[in-house]
Amino acid sequence: MDLKKIESQIQEALGKIEHPAYKLSLAEIGMLDSVQEEDGNLRLNLKAPDPDRKTQIALEAQIRGLLTKLELPGKVKIRFTVDESLKPEEIGNRIRGVKNIIAIGSGKGGVGKSTVSANLAAAMARKGLKVGLLDADIYGPSIGKMFGLSGKQPLFGDGKRKVEPPQAHGVKVISFSFLLNPDQAVIWRGPMLGKAVEQFLYEIIWGELDYLLIDLPPGTGDVQLSLAQLVDLDGALIVTTPQNVAIQDATRAVAMFQEVKIPILGIIENMSEFICPHCGKSSHIFSKNGGPAFAAKYKVPFLGDLPLMTEIMESGEEGTPFSIQQEGPVQKSYFEIIDRIGTEVERYR
Ligand SMILES: Nc1ncnc2c1ncn2[C@@H]1O[C@H](COP(=O)(O)OP(=O)(O)OP(=O)(O)O)[C@@H](O)[C@H]1O
Ligand SMILES: [Mg+2]
Repeated sequence: MDLKKIESQIQEALGKIEHPAYKLSLAEIGMLDSVQEEDGNLRLNLKAPDPDRKTQIALEAQIRGLLTKLELPGKVKIRFTVDESLKPEEIGNRIRGVKNIIAIGSGKGGVGKSTVSANLAAAMARKGLKVGLLDADIYGPSIGKMFGLSGKQPLFGDGKRKVEPPQAHGVKVISFSFLLNPDQAVIWRGPMLGKAVEQFLYEIIWGELDYLLIDLPPGTGDVQLSLAQLVDLDGALIVTTPQNVAIQDATRAVAMFQEVKIPILGIIENMSEFICPHCGKSSHIFSKNGGPAFAAKYKVPFLGDLPLMTEIMESGEEGTPFSIQQEGPVQKSYFEIIDRIGTEVERYR
């Protein structure tokens, strides 16, 4: 009996089973102790990171399921001994390896939330940060296109049922649009929707990230709230435009995040001034200073403003966020916003 070979086959199988409490594979936890031969049968000695017997029984069933495919000689006995030194830290509703999870919300639709999310993520990557972007907008997913990842994307697993996200401009991106053909209509019912976002959060190989940004759908209804509660968020950013109507809706977004005790890292004002593509002159077509006044009123930080520019709109269609197309004032504004976000997340740590 070639025990070495059998051991490596078993180790491979343990790599495909996830421990429900630690969200790591049994191989990653280091649960394989030894494989022994006993009268032509096999004895598999496993180390369990905690004494929870129920989980061990469930894991044993999964292990046996995979072992039957290996055509091992004789029967297999499985034994667990508890070794608490293997116990990984519990992570609760967090994603292992991801330092900061931030939702981007708005209240009002069409204020440029997705544009800001995409430009922010790309600028973060340009600055050398590790960043992922999750487009949680089911009905109007637009992030894929902004990164040049249009339509259905091939999503590959690593054998442990987790899926590698597509990458563009240094950002790991996942979007509902990757699951669908461009013209396909879908109706997501409540529970299905939550399940899908949960999979985006926990079954994607995000790896080590400084920031995972979540572009929420517009509005402040149940969908936004339940999304925000699927994972422990480190904070929220609110995007608004300067005019009164948008500001009023942003108030609702502030109230929503406050209600579920998610810290508001700050307000970003989009379309603050219009930069004329012909003469380069600036005009405040949507009034002025709405964002800073709003931030002062609710005692939340004002993180910065971004101009309304044809190039920003076009860059969303082309697939390369404007914040990384050229070094200039827009990139500078994004870099400053990123620094302020960094300061704010530290404050709440
Ligand atoms: N600063 C900007 N300059 C020029 N165009 C912009 C700017 N910000 C956003 N846009 C354009 O405005 C439109 C709406 O932007 P976007 O889709 O980002 O908004 P949204 O808030 O995510 O919308 P929704 O509520 O539908 O999710 C897009 O066509 C986008 O290209
Ligand atoms: Mg959007």
